[in-house]
Amino acid sequence: MAEIDKDQVVDVLNRVLEAELAGVIRYTHYSFLVFGSGRIPIVAWLRQQADESLVHAQQAGEWITTLGDYPSLAIGPLLDSHVFEIASILRESLDAERVALDLYRQLIALTEGRSVALEEYARQMIHVEELHAGEVDKMLRRPGTMTTPPERDTASA
Ligand SMILES: [Fe+2]
Repeated sequence: MAEIDKDQVVDVLNRVLEAELAGVIRYTHYSFLVFGSGRIPIVAWLRQQADESLVHAQQAGEWITTLGDYPSLAIGPLLDSHVFEIASILRESLDAERVALDLYRQLIALTEGRSVALEEYARQMIHVEELHAGEVDKMLRRPGTMTTPPERDTASA
């Protein structure tokens, strides 16, 4: 089995760590900004996403030290548009989740056929993040429709 390029793998893992930590902050921040009658379940969902992002950050950090390297203390980009309608929050979340998904895909490309454990980890994360993105996409649909409306429609919803 070929060896992994440790520096490249750690670089991607550090970007995963930073992106997931940004998720913790972003979801927590958004959870303060939900108003209206649907507030309680949406706040609970956002806090659950923050908790999940923290677990994902911890997994990436543990992998970095397993590989004998130093975890980043930086935080990934935060996308707050200061528009706190639910559709806008969900759109921003979906964009951020796609960035994380892309990083996990980079990780699988670097580890496939080289490290069973890292490849398995990347595969599991892609599974989880794709299901998550699918769930957010469904939340952006109008009830009674099957497809997600274009951005300008949901932004004003
Ligand atoms: Fe995640």
